[in-house]
Amino acid sequence: MTQPVLGILTLYMNENGHLEERDIYQKMTVAGRKLGLNVIVFTPKDVNYQQNRIHSLVYEPEERKWKRKWTSFPSMIFDRCRIQRTYRFEQLRQFRKSYGHLTFLNRPLRNKMTIHRILTKDSRFKSYLPASRMVEGVQDVSEMLRKYPLLYLKPINGTGGRGILRIERKRSGSLLIQGRDLSRRIINPKRISAAALSGYLSGWDLKGNRYLAQQGLQLKLPTGRVHDYRMLVQKNGEGQWQVTGCAGRVGAAGSVTSNLHGGGHAVPMEVLLKQWLNSEERVTEVIAEAEQFGVGVAQYLELCYGRLCELALDLAIDQKGRIWMLEVNPKPAREVFVQAGDKETYRKAIVRPLEYALWLHGQKKQRKSKRNSASSAAVEEKNSNPSSSAAT
Ligand SMILES: Nc1ncnc2c1ncn2[C@@H]1O[C@H](COP(=O)(O)OP(=O)(O)OP(=O)(O)O)[C@@H](O)[C@H]1O
Ligand SMILES: [Mg+2]
Repeated sequence: MTQPVLGILTLYMNENGHLEERDIYQKMTVAGRKLGLNVIVFTPKDVNYQQNRIHSLVYEPEERKWKRKWTSFPSMIFDRCRIQRTYRFEQLRQFRKSYGHLTFLNRPLRNKMTIHRILTKDSRFKSYLPASRMVEGVQDVSEMLRKYPLLYLKPINGTGGRGILRIERKRSGSLLIQGRDLSRRIINPKRISAAALSGYLSGWDLKGNRYLAQQGLQLKLPTGRVHDYRMLVQKNGEGQWQVTGCAGRVGAAGSVTSNLHGGGHAVPMEVLLKQWLNSEERVTEVIAEAEQFGVGVAQYLELCYGRLCELALDLAIDQKGRIWMLEVNPKPAREVFVQAGDKETYRKAIVRPLEYALWLHGQKKQRKSKRNSASSAAVEEKNSNPSSSAAT
C-alpha cells in the first residue's frame, strides 16, 4: 500500500531559492519516515499547473541530500508560508485559490487586528486581550495614550518584531519612545513632549503600513530587560488540541521586544515565572489558566477560519499574574524550546503535525470507505427492488 504524502508548502526567501526552515523540514522528513508518512517540500513556484505536477524538494535521509524530483500532488498540505511583500506571495495566493479543494492541515489566519476583533466577540477571551485599535492618525495614538500610560504600535501584518514602537507617558507628561525599525534595527530612544508626537510619528507612515495601537504591559524584569512567553498549541495524533509547551523569552538589552531574532534568549517558563511572581503556587495556577486559554483560542479560531493544526500565542503575564495575549502566530518557529533546553518539547513540536496529518488521512480514508459501502448498498438495494427506488 502506498504511504500518504505530506507536502510542506513554503516560500523561497530570495531568488537563489533559500528556504528559511530547511533544517526543520529535514527533521520532519526523517520523523515522517519512521511514522509511515512521506514528506515533500515545495513552493508555489515549483507547481506546473499545466501538467498537474510539482518539481518538489525531497530529502533523502540515506544520502543526507536534498534532491529535486517531479512528484504528483501530495495527499495533504502543511502551509508554512509567512507573509512577504513580494511577487512570491502573490503566487501563493494564486495557488491557494486554484488548489483550495486539496486537504490542508491549516488554512491562513488573518491580520493581528482582525484576530483581536474576532476574539473580543467571545466573552471567554475578552479579559485576556489588551485594548487595541487601528491607527488612522496621530489623534488615535494620543487618545490611547490618555487612557494607557504605555502603548505598543505594531504593523498589523508585521512579524519578527519589525517596526514596533513603544511609547511610555512619563509623570511629567513627556513621552519616551523606543523601538525597532522595519529592518528590526533598534532605534535611538527619544524623549519628546506630547506636542511633538505628531512630528515624530510623521516619519513612520502609520497609515500606509497599517498599524495598530495596543495597550502596553509593563514587562521589565529587574535587569531592565522585557520578557514574555511563547505557547505552542498543536493538534495531536487523535486530532485533539493540546499545549505542546510554553517557554519564556527575555529580550536583548535595550530592546522593547523579546524576539529571539532580535537578540532575545529563551528560558524555561517555570523559572522565569517563579522569579516574576515570587510564588510557586501562583505559578501552577497561572500556567493551568494559560493552557486552558490557549486551547480555547485554538478551537475558536479553527471554528472561525477553517482547519488549523498549530498556533503559537505570545503571552504576557503581569506582576499580578494576570494573563494577556499579545498576538497569535499562525506559522510558529520551534527553536524557542531547544534554546530553553527543552529538547523533548522541541521533538514533540516537530512530530505532532505529522501525527496529526496521519490521523487526518485515516479519517479521510474511513469516510471514503463508508461512502463506498453506502453507495454499493444502495446499488444492491436498487438491483434487488427496482420499483421501490423509482417511486421515491
Ligand atoms: N502590548 C504589549 N505590551 C508589552 N510588550 C509587547 C506588547 N506587544 C508586543 N510586545 C513585545 O513585542 C514583541 C513583538 O510583538 P508581536 O509579537 O506583536 O510582533 P511580531 O512582529 O509579530 O513578533 P513575532 O513575529 O516574533 O511574534 C512581543 O513578543 C513583546 O515582547
Ligand atoms: Mg510575536
